[in-house]
Amino acid sequence: MKALVLSGGAGTRLRPITHTSAKQLVPVANKPILFYGLEAIADAGITDVAIVVGDTENEIRQAVGDGSDFGLTVTYLRQEAPRGLSHAVLIARDFLGDDDFVMFLGDNFVFGGITDTVEEFRKEGPDAQLLLTRVPNPSAFGVAELDDAGRLLRLEEKPEHPRSDLALVGVYLFGPSIHEAVRAIGPSARGELEITDAIQWLLERDRDVRTTVITGYWKDTGNAADILDVNRRLLDLLEYRVEGDVDENSEIVGRVQIDAGAVIRGSRIVGPAIIGPGTVVENSYIGPSTAIAEDCVIRNSEIEFSIILRESGFDSIRRVEGSLVGRNVHVSLAHRVPATHRLVIGDHGRVQISS
Ligand code: G1P
Repeated sequence: MKALVLSGGAGTRLRPITHTSAKQLVPVANKPILFYGLEAIADAGITDVAIVVGDTENEIRQAVGDGSDFGLTVTYLRQEAPRGLSHAVLIARDFLGDDDFVMFLGDNFVFGGITDTVEEFRKEGPDAQLLLTRVPNPSAFGVAELDDAGRLLRLEEKPEHPRSDLALVGVYLFGPSIHEAVRAIGPSARGELEITDAIQWLLERDRDVRTTVITGYWKDTGNAADILDVNRRLLDLLEYRVEGDVDENSEIVGRVQIDAGAVIRGSRIVGPAIIGPGTVVENSYIGPSTAIAEDCVIRNSEIEFSIILRESGFDSIRRVEGSLVGRNVHVSLAHRVPATHRLVIGDHGRVQISS
C-alpha cells in the first residue's frame, strides 16, 4: 500500500501567511500540520509516499526532505496548476502502479490517525473507502447521500443544496480501479477534475465503494479559525515539560511545554501552552491555547489563544487573543503622542484594534 499526499494549492483563505509559506506548513502546537499527516501514514505501516506539490514545492521539499525523519521514502510529483484531486491521481499513475493507496490532503487534520481505516481497507479490499463526518456547513465540502441502510447513494462536490450533512473527509482509500475513473471524468463547473466525480463514476458502475462515518475530530484547516481550533485541541494533549530557563519570579501553571533554550523571566504562563526554543518571554502573560514558535521575543505583553510563528516580537501589547501571527512580525507600542496606530502590514493582512 502506498500514500499520495496532496500539498499543492494556493491557500488563499490563509493569506497573508500563505503569501510566503505553504499552507500545509503552518505549525499547530509548533509543528507543521503536514507532519501530523505524514506521521499518521507512517503509523499505519505505509512507507512509500508521493507528495504532490505546486508552487510551494521548494518549501515542502526543504521541510520534509527524503522523508527519512518520518520513516518514509518520499517522492515529489509536480502538479503545474491546482487542477483537482482527480488530476493529482492522474499524474501519480506511474508512482502508484496498481497498488492500493491512501490519498491524504496535506491540510487536513484527523485526530486519532488513520491506522484502523487502513487496516479495514486492507482486509476488505473494496474499490474505494471514504471517511465521512457530520458538519454544520456541508456546502463547503464534498457531500455524501446514504440510504437508510447506510449505503452510499451519491456524492456531490460543494452542492448549493446539500442532501445531507455528511462531508467527505480528506482521507480516501483506493484500489487500482480509481485510475480508470479519473481518466473517464471531465472538469467540473469550477474547472477541476473532482475526486467526488471519479468516485461517483465508480458508484454508477456498481463498484464497491464503502463509507465510514467518523465521530472523532477532523478539520480541513482552510482558514485561521480552523488552524487555531486544531492548535487548541492539540495543546489540550500536551504534557508538562519545562526544559527552558525559568526564573523564580515566573509562574508556570498547568500543562506547559517550554523547550530547551527558551528563557522565561518575571512572567506567568498558564497552560496548555508551548514556548519554542530560543524564545524569550519577559514580564508577560501567556495564556491557554497558545503556541509560540522558536526565536520570538515577548516583552510586557499578554497573549492568549494564539499562534505566533518564529522570530516574531511583541513589546508592550495588551492583550492579544485569537490571533495567527506570521514569521518575523513585530508589534510594539507607539510611544510618541498623539497615540496613533502605525501599521506596516502585508497584502491580505487583517487587523482588529480594540481602541
Ligand atoms: C476537497 C474535496 C472535498 C472534501 C474536502 C475535504 O475540497 O474536493 O470533497 O470534502 O477536500 O477537506 P477542497 O479542499 O479542494 O475545497
